[in-house]
Amino acid sequence: MKTDRSYACWLQVERIGEPALRDSYARRCGEIAVVGEGAVLHTAADELAAGIAAMLGDVPVRTAGQPRYARHLLLGKLQDLPAEIRVSLADAESRLGEEGYVIKTCGDRIVLAGNTDRAVLYAAFRLLRLMACGCGPEELSILDKPANGLRMINQWDNMDGSIERGYAGKSIFYRNNRIVDDLTRVRDYARLLASVGVNAIAVNNVNVHDEETRLIDRHLPDVSRLADVFRAYGIRLFLSVNYASPVQIGALETADPLDPGVRKWWADIARNIYNAIPDFGGFLVKADSEFRPGPFTYGRDHADGANMLAEALGPYGGLVIWRCFVYNCLQDWRDRTTDRAKAAYDHFKGHDGRFKDNVILQIKNGPMDFQVREPVSPLFGAMTETNQLLELQITQEYTGHQRHLCYLVPQWKEVLDFETYAKGEGSTVAQIASGALYNRKYGGMAAVSNIGDDLNWTGHLLAQANLYGYGRLAWNPSLSSEEITREWIVQTFGPDPVVADTVSRMLLESWNIYESYTAPLGVGWMVNPGSHYGPNVDGYEYSKWGTYHYADHAGIGVDRTVRTGTGYTAQYHPPRSDEYESLERCPDELLLFFHHVPYTHKLKSGKTVIQHIYDSRFEGAERAQGLVEAWRSLRGRIDESRYNQVLERLEEQAEHAKEWRDVINTYFWRKSGIPDALGRKIY
Ligand code: GCU
Repeated sequence: MKTDRSYACWLQVERIGEPALRDSYARRCGEIAVVGEGAVLHTAADELAAGIAAMLGDVPVRTAGQPRYARHLLLGKLQDLPAEIRVSLADAESRLGEEGYVIKTCGDRIVLAGNTDRAVLYAAFRLLRLMACGCGPEELSILDKPANGLRMINQWDNMDGSIERGYAGKSIFYRNNRIVDDLTRVRDYARLLASVGVNAIAVNNVNVHDEETRLIDRHLPDVSRLADVFRAYGIRLFLSVNYASPVQIGALETADPLDPGVRKWWADIARNIYNAIPDFGGFLVKADSEFRPGPFTYGRDHADGANMLAEALGPYGGLVIWRCFVYNCLQDWRDRTTDRAKAAYDHFKGHDGRFKDNVILQIKNGPMDFQVREPVSPLFGAMTETNQLLELQITQEYTGHQRHLCYLVPQWKEVLDFETYAKGEGSTVAQIASGALYNRKYGGMAAVSNIGDDLNWTGHLLAQANLYGYGRLAWNPSLSSEEITREWIVQTFGPDPVVADTVSRMLLESWNIYESYTAPLGVGWMVNPGSHYGPNVDGYEYSKWGTYHYADHAGIGVDRTVRTGTGYTAQYHPPRSDEYESLERCPDELLLFFHHVPYTHKLKSGKTVIQHIYDSRFEGAERAQGLVEAWRSLRGRIDESRYNQVLERLEEQAEHAKEWRDVINTYFWRKSGIPDALGRKIY
């Protein structure tokens, strides 16, 4: 079954077609010589051996370190390499940090080295990528290191085997309230993640239900098996924990973070965990949000709660990742004095400087909830004394459930490149999240995974590109969307330039296409309650106390200005705050997020809001059909199984896009009483 090509994702490794390139590598890959011991180093050697065997033919692996042939790949920690090689790598040792690596061709030898085994593993995957992408070995002289310390994946998997917001089958981790016995698939997943540089994973849903609460005690031996699998790929395991655990499984009467009994309980739990898993990463916590328990019950705040857990994990080097997705979901949207968009900032900014060093705040990219379009969360750049982690969502909760093509790398790039002006120019989200701007000890990125046990991992085969792109951006946020896209396509489908051009165009346009037939101009939502799939203008579950787009016969949008609205714009630094406050300067694509305007308001494009809504819904549906045509043009260039599965999804998307178009346009036609100026039928 696993011979289906979709299973291998971007690790297809095919025989290199170009003879000169193949020879050039073959000349330097007489054998793989590994200096040193250790599971991760051996993973690196195994990956190279398997990859190179597929691309060139078999290569012997020699682990004694002393190569037999002059032509070889040499891998190991810098400190373990022979003196003459270390000299040739000059000052690399001091520049690489823990995870950076060098790849250097010296005559007939290629050296892959770093300060740790993990770094060598990243070098191995990089070399395989270079080979697959057609880069010759002659002049290789690469020194690369990640911008972000933490490059994390969050699984929203439940122990009953379901996945919250999962669109690609069941969990590969759990079945029937147990961790699965056969971890082959988990191992293959670890491999995919390591190949793009992911180094941390939280293996259970942030909403921790009954059985998952016991991952920290009853299921610990099994969690330890999982940790072993990830460790061999340089990935540290984290657990999401239930804040009320001391009460639910510890028989304590309270989970008050200032209670000495509670502190001791967590300290004991931490000790047990570290006995079983010495490199355990730490806890991920969703507290006092969407009905999850938290410190508020005891009159304490987020800092009290997070610090208590940090104290328990601190002695072992563990981290507490505390989520900032906190808002009042019972908010009455008719009450215009409260604004959900303001919640994270209001809850956390005041605690800046109070969190312990091993606490990191995990902040969603936007102030709402992974919408197709929303502004960047103003919490980035609002706290100078607190570690922050950017949270993205790879799984397509609001972006088409992996039934629609929506390549999110361009969206993430906009977030990472967003200028907050927190410390003047250059204060981008990428700089803040990595910890560089405020010189924070910890930082990085986390993202909710999009995989399940579907044979192709992600349901929509092209959604594999989102997982790949996330890893690449977490390693290096300055890569362009185009570069990442090309890399992914060549590794997934091979070097055919027609495939590369066509698929690249499809991927890069898909976010814009999806946006143009769904919720317009940054207003967000308009999805069915619960599932968050399909068009429903008034449908989102928390809008039942009033609409959240505030559309009536006269206008649409949420007034978040200081002058007349909720005051949200003041959470940004100038000149951002001024830009968003101003009706004239606010970017069109976010207009309805920040302003309530009449339907006849003119956009910068010269169109009225209502005409824009009509036109773009029509165009969006047409462009979705264009994706089908583009893919059809690749028939015969891609193996049939992968070709057909993508085609099926794209055809469904094109149909569904028409439904979106009609539902949205009809609603606003009726609401505004303004017909389509082009005389098109509004159904
Ligand atoms: C969204 C999503 C939930 C999820 C939550 C979170 O609200 O719909 O399923 O639990 O985000 O991020 O915690």
